[in-house]
Amino acid sequence: MTTKDMKEKIQQIFKEKFGEPGTLYASAGRINLIGEHTDYNGGFVFPGAIDKVMMAEIRPNGLDKVRAYSVDLEDYAEFGLNEEDAPTQSWARYIFGVCREILKRGGQVKPFDTVFAGNVPLGAGLSSSAALESCFAFALNDLFNGNSIDKFELAKIGQSTEHNYCGVNCGIMDQFASVFGKKGHLMRLDCRSLEHEYYPFDPEGYKLVLVDSRVKHELADSPYNRRRESCERVAKRLGVETLRDATMEALNAAKSDISAEDYFRAKFVLEEKDRVLAVCDALVAGDYETVGQKMYETHRGLSKDYEVSCEELDFLNDVAKDLGVTGSRIMGGGFGGCTINLVKDELHDKFVEEVKARFNEKYGHEPNIYDVVISDGARRYEE
Ligand code: GLA
Repeated sequence: MTTKDMKEKIQQIFKEKFGEPGTLYASAGRINLIGEHTDYNGGFVFPGAIDKVMMAEIRPNGLDKVRAYSVDLEDYAEFGLNEEDAPTQSWARYIFGVCREILKRGGQVKPFDTVFAGNVPLGAGLSSSAALESCFAFALNDLFNGNSIDKFELAKIGQSTEHNYCGVNCGIMDQFASVFGKKGHLMRLDCRSLEHEYYPFDPEGYKLVLVDSRVKHELADSPYNRRRESCERVAKRLGVETLRDATMEALNAAKSDISAEDYFRAKFVLEEKDRVLAVCDALVAGDYETVGQKMYETHRGLSKDYEVSCEELDFLNDVAKDLGVTGSRIMGGGFGGCTINLVKDELHDKFVEEVKARFNEKYGHEPNIYDVVISDGARRYEE
């Protein structure tokens, strides 16, 4: 659905259910050019917000409970704002979690009515959940707190919602990208210091293309949390706070004390940390061949050492390589979802056509293809 159609649908349903109009807010899904599974290791990431959003219309209702309607799931929930009022539907727990995390920090939230929808594909690794959290965190800050909560805290409110209400022990990348996203720019974030820099991104002669395997990735209760535990065990063994502060020499010296699995997890993270920095330099130099090569290296590491790929994603990566695509890799947490591909303009149409045909031949359905437009993050939606 286009964002404009979605807005009209939300407004129409809000009017039917709750009467007087509220205020519209939106926040974006994200891509990540490079730096995967580095965020919770204190490393670097390189995300950007995209032109697909979660959008909500919201109005304080003067009642003692929140009334929420999900357009996409055609489901309704009501809940109070105390800890014991947690709703059972998992989609509503994202909204409840954001309310609770604001209240826990001493912020204000009053009951409200809301209708929301999204065109960020679910389970595709584009962070629809972070977009939802960031949309509500931004909105409740605007409506009830005079925008006194700073943007980093808004991102952390979303992240804590995942940890405390949704069972995913995620890093900060997705919520950061969704809150801080800026049209035409990627962001290099140092997840240890939270220092960040915007990089204009408009690679002349190339396009970013997402190929969605449509294998649904689900991070809650998944091996995602176990990957994080492996990293934390190795960091502890090496006497550092996070793997950001570890070296390959130290890791190799401790190899005999670490399980083979944990060793390969940590090795990937240390290599990925260096790759992000190499990609930043290559981008500044306009050297997209190096960017692409690093993307392939990341895919290999995510597949063989970090083991978060799946057959379909490896297949997509092989097809990209075979067709001469400049760079291709799994994007996001893994276990399904999309590959991100850096494709020369002249190869674009052929790539899209071939990747669809070859995937269809092998798996019996076409992958979804999304062209990436780097866009703004959380905002009042006034377009
Ligand atoms: C998910 C998490 C992020 C990050 C990525 C992998 O998207 O939510 O915090 O760890 O996986 O880079």
